[in-house]
Amino acid sequence: MPAFSPVFSNQLHELFRWRRDVRHFRCDPVPEPVLEGLLATACLAPSVGLSEPWRFVRVDDADRRAAVREDFSQCNADALADRAGTDAQRYARLKLAGLDDAPHHVAVLSHPDPVQGRGLGRATMPQTTTWSTVMAIHTFWLAATAAGVGVGWVSIINPARIKAILDVDPALELVAYLCVGYPDGHAPTPELERRGWEQRAPERREWVRR
Ligand SMILES: Cc1cc2nc3c(=O)[nH]c(=O)nc-3n(C[C@H](O)[C@H](O)[C@H](O)COP(=O)(O)O)c2cc1C
Repeated sequence: MPAFSPVFSNQLHELFRWRRDVRHFRCDPVPEPVLEGLLATACLAPSVGLSEPWRFVRVDDADRRAAVREDFSQCNADALADRAGTDAQRYARLKLAGLDDAPHHVAVLSHPDPVQGRGLGRATMPQTTTWSTVMAIHTFWLAATAAGVGVGWVSIINPARIKAILDVDPALELVAYLCVGYPDGHAPTPELERRGWEQRAPERREWVRR
């Protein structure tokens, strides 16, 4: 194993600090080898029983993308309608997806009962397949950040409708719909914090010893 230097450790910490959920993108595409390399890196993530349950679906088709955007608009309007007063006004001012501008869309699905891994580790905690896929998404997110590529996670969508739009096996679980591209700006703090929606909690010290 390579020796990771203190300089690298510091840079890694900066990577964690500067990783952002990106909702504003430049329109120029990420070169294919870069994007494919990031997806390959995502697959280095740990997974329960080495099941590798993640399925990355690149959504290139303009009609499918438009249908996903429409679904987001509908779900976002519903979410707004569920809120009242100043809370609704604040919600309405947020930009909660970069679906219009992002040059790449990637849906991430998870196999709930993969043959690979032979069931190891899942008998009492079947959700571990989903968690494995989330690990892959996070790996992708960090690798993308290191490559100067932005990622935005969209969850304000209807999973069943998205799976139908993408024509994927309905038995797969939709875990994330990612917008990917070069960010239009950088910040060391979450956009939701900068827009006054929510703040990071002071460093959490909730771990205990038993
Ligand atoms: C599971 C998950 C779902 C998310 N869904 C959305 C979403 O639908 N729209 C959005 O704008 N951001 C979404 N986000 C991004 C969060 O708002 C963001 O991670 C958080 O505000 C912290 O900001 P940061 O990622 O820039 O540090 C999601 C993040 C996660 C982990």
